[in-house]
Amino acid sequence: MAIVNGNYANLKESYLFADIANKVAAYAAANPDKKIIRMGIGDVTMPLARCVVDALVKASIDQGSADTFHGYGPEQGYKFFQDAVAGYYADFGVELDAKEIFCSDGAKSDCGNLTDLFCNADTILIPDPVYPVYLDTNIMCGRNIKYMEGNPENGFLPMPPKDIKADVIYLCSPNNPTGAVYSKEQLEAWVAYALENDSVILFDAAYEAFVSDPAVPRSIYLIPGAKKCAIELCSLSKLGSFTGTRCGYTIVPLELVRPDEQGNMMSLNKMWLRRQTTKYNGTSYIIQRGAEAIFSEEGLKQCRKNLAYYQENAKIMMAGLDKVGIKYFGGVHSPYIWLQCPNGMGSWEFFDMLLEKFGIVGTPGAGFGKCGEGYFRLTAFGSRENTIEAMERIVAGFGK
Ligand code: MLT
Repeated sequence: MAIVNGNYANLKESYLFADIANKVAAYAAANPDKKIIRMGIGDVTMPLARCVVDALVKASIDQGSADTFHGYGPEQGYKFFQDAVAGYYADFGVELDAKEIFCSDGAKSDCGNLTDLFCNADTILIPDPVYPVYLDTNIMCGRNIKYMEGNPENGFLPMPPKDIKADVIYLCSPNNPTGAVYSKEQLEAWVAYALENDSVILFDAAYEAFVSDPAVPRSIYLIPGAKKCAIELCSLSKLGSFTGTRCGYTIVPLELVRPDEQGNMMSLNKMWLRRQTTKYNGTSYIIQRGAEAIFSEEGLKQCRKNLAYYQENAKIMMAGLDKVGIKYFGGVHSPYIWLQCPNGMGSWEFFDMLLEKFGIVGTPGAGFGKCGEGYFRLTAFGSRENTIEAMERIVAGFGK
């Protein structure tokens, strides 16, 4: 008899965004005439940059000729992809060895896959509220999870706990869902904590491209010592509009070593390479060529235009919320606005009201953890027209 992984029974019935998609589909079916404005899942609306499309087309044509055809590629990614990422990081002051960069099909997959590197006895420290993937993937393998509270008092930026010695720590900055960003000093405190406790930080930098202040670190590796204690995950979903095209990368420093259960020192870079060569056949050549083009001068120029468009949306949203006196966090270095539900409403209560009365979809804060109760996330990834319309609906509804 096959015995299945009982940890799955400890998960919520369904994944947060699947749950919301089902609710919205039911509402849309019951109200076919209503225009629904989607500000829930952080999915982009701007298309791929022209030079990225050209690179994808060219790479597809390469695959049709024997002399330019590519079969199985290196599991960790082609050198051209690694060099492109290394060049991008060098531009903001981080030196990476190509061997430290592993191409993925997006940060979400690697975020779950990285649990393979750690032992079941490890204590996992997770912020609350949090991107549900960190939590669910650790529940799936039955890990000992400790939470650190994000709240208005700490600006939703929990700092190292004095009473917990965590082995693996998840940090996300700019943060999903709250839009909060750690300062250099705050990240220095985290790196110091990780070095003191021999922990490993899993740093999710998926939203780094939204940082508009050079004093705010876009990578944990801008903090001295971080290469000895941190793995960084990043995604091209938001920077390059790759939510549907799928590509990201994970940086596992060569300097990062930790002991196994017998005390043998292990290189996490070597372990990850071993894991990827065994369980992953690499991101497709075509997609990596498209991703490479994102990092070209022309690609970045176009992608930054898209980011500026979303940043303008965020400003429109913040102005609307200011008008009706709804408090919020984020929105500055982030496409997410984390608002306090008005009139003391619960997150799901506000979700239902916003959908039914105003035809707007957002994400209930409670879906990101118990500290998210009473909060609500809106994304700035919509079209300008829809963003303006959504805010007009909110201002009209709450302005009295
Ligand atoms: C979100 O809405 O939190 C993200 O778009 C989900 C993701 O990146 O997987």
